[in-house]
Amino acid sequence: MSQENTNPRHVAIILDGNGRWAKKRGLSRSEGHRAGGEALDRLLDDALEIGIPFISLYAFSTENWKRPRAEIQAIWKLMREFFTDRLQRCIEKGIRVHASGDLSRLPAANRKLILHVIEKTAKNKALTANFCVNYGSMDEISHAATEIVRERLSLAKKGKKADAAVSAKEIEKHLYTHPIPPVDLLVRPGGESRLSNFLLWQCAYAELYFTDVLWPDFGRRDLQAALKWFRSRPRKFGGLLAKED
Ligand code: IPE
Ligand code: IPE
Ligand code: MG
Repeated sequence: MSQENTNPRHVAIILDGNGRWAKKRGLSRSEGHRAGGEALDRLLDDALEIGIPFISLYAFSTENWKRPRAEIQAIWKLMREFFTDRLQRCIEKGIRVHASGDLSRLPAANRKLILHVIEKTAKNKALTANFCVNYGSMDEISHAATEIVRERLSLAKKGKKADAAVSAKEIEKHLYTHPIPPVDLLVRPGGESRLSNFLLWQCAYAELYFTDVLWPDFGRRDLQAALKWFRSRPRKFGGLLAKED
């Protein structure tokens, strides 16, 4: 079965290029991250207007801990400001916040705030914004495997039989992104052509769009360009297009 000429249901974006954007202007990397937050604000409005139901945003990776402490702390502070300032707007606009990643390593204030925003927006339906924070695909998959083993052990303890095989469906149920559908379109601004440990499972059949535009400069026109390109892609999922039958 093919799906042609439709907008994607799930768009995933790697928010990359904040540091280079700042450097070009003689600003600090934190200023770049602040500008990245403003671009994110605009993107959420555009996604709502266009009618994209799921957006995943790579905000902090499991590898980003390698950065200087001061930069990491600036990111956590900006994230707190972002959620504090936008909560009311998210509620009013119908944005549901979901978080993917190991939140246990976040500063307590960030963790609490994210959980609070998730709770307050849980009933919203217009757009699910999946914030990937301390997220890494390899961590996500090993976390899913650990949970599955734990469930099997607990069944065994109760003397119940557990299936020895693990299905893809079962793994999916344990991913941080559950129950968000697979990614249709992955967008990476910032000029790099790699996935950097982002949604590897969920992007199994995603269309991959790379652009040199730095994230803080990424605007509505860039999103429209990515969507236009997406709609031109023949998606076959391993099969054939109707006209090839
Ligand atoms: C992405 O921008 C933001 C985070 C990783 C938090 P970068 O900080 O990686 O920006 P560049 O790649 O150095 O320009
Ligand atoms: C990916 O960007 C992570 C986020 C945007 C959160 P990076 O800047 O960390 O990726 P690499 O190091 O260029 O692969
Ligand atoms: Mg980068």
